[in-house]
Amino acid sequence: MQARMPTVPGVTTHSPIIVLDSGLGGLTVVRAIQKAMPAENILYFGDTARLPYGNKSAGTVTAFIRQIINHLMPQRPKHVVIACNTGTALALSALRSEFGGLSISGVIDPGAKAAVTAAGAKAVPAIGVIATEATVRSKAYERAILRRRNHARVYLKPTPLLVPIIEDGRMANDPLVRMALGQYLQPLIERKVDVLVLGCTHYPIFRDSIEDLMGPTVAVIDSAEQCAEDVARRLKVRHLLKPPVDPTDTNAHGWLRCFVTDDPARFARLGSRFLGTPIEQPTWVSPDDLYSAATPAAALRLPA
Ligand code: DGL
Repeated sequence: MQARMPTVPGVTTHSPIIVLDSGLGGLTVVRAIQKAMPAENILYFGDTARLPYGNKSAGTVTAFIRQIINHLMPQRPKHVVIACNTGTALALSALRSEFGGLSISGVIDPGAKAAVTAAGAKAVPAIGVIATEATVRSKAYERAILRRRNHARVYLKPTPLLVPIIEDGRMANDPLVRMALGQYLQPLIERKVDVLVLGCTHYPIFRDSIEDLMGPTVAVIDSAEQCAEDVARRLKVRHLLKPPVDPTDTNAHGWLRCFVTDDPARFARLGSRFLGTPIEQPTWVSPDDLYSAATPAAALRLPA
């Protein structure tokens, strides 16, 4: 049983938002946060040495994310986003109760909300969700969708090969990608889904190909934008939003600092594709440090 954390002391509007994922996928959420709130400072953690999370148990994923949050706590985050559907499905509620004073959100509720909105007025919409094995098994999307719309047909499709393919840096026109997408999406095309939720933060990188395969009548939902709106709302009610800046004035933008548990150069190279802008070399964090209870704050000193 983990000790309950006290309220994070010393949090101000300038405190960072932590965004975390198993690897590159959460950068799609960073991109949406930067677009919606360009002034915000962000710490991104990609647990690249231990991905994928999508084939692991709830206990393991919860332990990994707990370690990451503990490691970054000395930075006094004003909010934590679990920018990973698997992490949200398996660990969000446990970590919220453990870290009592810390504001933590995920990506599934925002994604489900967007899916239901996109389904419009149709009496019984068919909503497809592609996600990792663990997210599908948790039924978290099904519950989140049916809570908002009890007459909907929800089809959950595990797509376990996509995260490794994406982390391998494959492009949308790669034959392996085309074959995997074709096979995974076919059953959902046959079910004539009205909406398709990209239930993994890695998948938006193939959004155009997925839209092409699903056809023009299917609304494809990437929860990143909704997730950024949700974060903005949570910060606003706590009076912790940084004052808005002119989005064209890049000098006024907040900073992004990345941490990874494996190969920083590779992450920087592949990550810019997700972020849409170059990424500074991330800081490497040894998984051994994550396992140890306390990490000296000095090791993570941030730019002024
Ligand atoms: N981006 C994570 C998600 O949204 C990927 C999970 C994994 O590492 O398998 O589920």
